[in-house]
Amino acid sequence: MSATAPAAIAPAGARQMRLGLFLLSTGHHIAGWRHPGSAADMPVSIARYAEIARMAEAACFDMLFLADNNCVPQTDWPAVRRTSRANLFEPIALLSALSMVTDRIGLVATGSTTYSEPYHTARAFGTLDHLSGGRAGWNIVTTSNSNEAWNFGRESHPAHADRYKRAGEFVEVTKGLWDSFTDDAFPRDTESGIYFDATKLGVLNHKGEHFSVRGPLNLARPPQGHPVLVQAGGSEAGRDLAARLAEVIFAVNQALPDAQAFYADIKARLIAHGRDAEAVKVMPGLFPVVGRTRAEAEDRMAELQRLLHPDVGLSLLSFLTGGFDFTPYDVDGPLPELPDTDVGKARLKVIADLAKRENLSIRQLYERIAVSRGHHMVVGSAADVADRMQDWFEGGAADGFNVMPPTFPEGFRDFCQLVVPELQRRGLFRTEYSGRTLREHLGLARPLHLPRGQVALPHA
Ligand SMILES: Cc1cc2nc3c(=O)[nH]c(=O)nc-3n(C[C@H](O)[C@H](O)[C@H](O)COP(=O)(O)O)c2cc1C
Repeated sequence: MSATAPAAIAPAGARQMRLGLFLLSTGHHIAGWRHPGSAADMPVSIARYAEIARMAEAACFDMLFLADNNCVPQTDWPAVRRTSRANLFEPIALLSALSMVTDRIGLVATGSTTYSEPYHTARAFGTLDHLSGGRAGWNIVTTSNSNEAWNFGRESHPAHADRYKRAGEFVEVTKGLWDSFTDDAFPRDTESGIYFDATKLGVLNHKGEHFSVRGPLNLARPPQGHPVLVQAGGSEAGRDLAARLAEVIFAVNQALPDAQAFYADIKARLIAHGRDAEAVKVMPGLFPVVGRTRAEAEDRMAELQRLLHPDVGLSLLSFLTGGFDFTPYDVDGPLPELPDTDVGKARLKVIADLAKRENLSIRQLYERIAVSRGHHMVVGSAADVADRMQDWFEGGAADGFNVMPPTFPEGFRDFCQLVVPELQRRGLFRTEYSGRTLREHLGLARPLHLPRGQVALPHA
């Protein structure tokens, strides 16, 4: 299939996959910034981000997604100085800028429920939704990086269970704040002199275990009602929160059976919570290395792996396993038993299962983790990549994918030019946008306004 062949139109009503671009500065391969296909200045270049955002929109992606940490993620300086990860724009500011150079693509930023307050979050994401004409999404994280504690006046990261308890209340308060006004609360009637109708205002007056928030939010209800709620924690508590509140779930799965089990588990939890199974889109991460031929893709992958410094690989493995110290162990020996972590439980399990399933040494494991941090990887031609995506999509493992190119811009351009047309030819992906908002792209309902704390003021 050539990239220029006409795209087939999917039969009416056919299920199509959702595609998100996981936009991680210089690329998902940890050594990607050293590759000639990467722009090493990307982390602080709005021009580069704008180029990628326009490319993703031209390819009809549902959304751009920015992960975030309120810290330099790792403090192992000899290794960290060899990565681009200590340099990161604040995501809402960046997406606000990108909203001005795009029209259709969804804009999803990460916001922590542990190191932020609902009022700030409601205001920032509500503003992004207005700026973008209804394209905002919030990736709700309880924060996987314990280093953030030190930037917010805390000695240590709160316990996993406590973080998730706070997250549930945080999201409810944020939703309540977005509903401070009904959709039609602002008549801006110059004749009567009434700017907003006070009967359409609700003062939240929330007093809970973690938050005391009076409200109202100083912002009209967002165009989407609420920005799309995304969740990415895979532990028991994470899945439960997702099934109660989320509309998109970013998953991390290595193998198809694990992805199928995760997908079935989430859909069952949704039903148990009285929600429609279609109300949440499950989008596992996918790390694609694509070439015009399989051999070319394999060469590219080998080229990237040659750029990986061993210190960087080992340091990343330690970070993703909750700070486990591998220095006393032989890197060419087997992976020791890893203790449970309070940080990213789901990721730890994916990594430990991968090492066990493929009998990997510590070195082999970090070489794999440095690539995609535990997400599924596929190296091959456009048809190989599309086959894998189709297998997962039609095999009950995914509603779409969070695409994680190894490098930017080259790795993503290859995906857009080679894989997207192949998916379109198979009728698996849209050839043009039919909606305007992120909810419309994803097929998600606009939330009804829930009145809370109406105030007793005269109408005029
Ligand atoms: C695709 C993806 C993106 C994530 N992005 C972030 C992020 O930007 N910031 C963060 O603190 N955690 C991030 N996480 C981590 C989770 O949201 C979650 O906090 C972590 O996995 C711990 O939760 P768990 O123990 O339920 O897995 C991400 C996870 C996934 C799968």
